[in-house]
Amino acid sequence: MTPELDVLVQAARAARLHAHAPFSTFHVGAALEAHDGRIITGCNVENASYGLTICAERVAIFKAISEGIRGFRRIVVVADTEAPTPPCGACRQLLWEFCGDIEVILANLKEVKGSQRMAALLPLPFDARLLK
Ligand code: THU
Repeated sequence: MTPELDVLVQAARAARLHAHAPFSTFHVGAALEAHDGRIITGCNVENASYGLTICAERVAIFKAISEGIRGFRRIVVVADTEAPTPPCGACRQLLWEFCGDIEVILANLKEVKGSQRMAALLPLPFDARLLK
């Protein structure tokens, strides 16, 4: 692992510690790396109505966009599980629209479990190109 990736993974692990997940108790952290090297983190934030829950990945994306940061290289998603935790369908849609074909790196508290490109995670995407 490169030192840059290690920093990104550690950022996702640190963000996970802020997860608000009293209903699922499933704590997730994400760290999005912008083209300029900035790291924007997110954690999942649950809600008593359940449906208003927002995943760690979307929190990171919305934080970045709201701070005027555009253009991303990769994202790390961390959960405390042996099997990697890939982004849900809603997050895949937003990752595709705001980040394009970035690398999605899945890790747990000990190690990186693997990585995928968004084009593999969301084949045949619907996006703005089709709104013509
Ligand atoms: N969750 C994420 O934050 N990211 C994922 O990639 C998968 C799921 C959250 C949503 C919910 O708070 C909890 O994990 C259980 O689904």
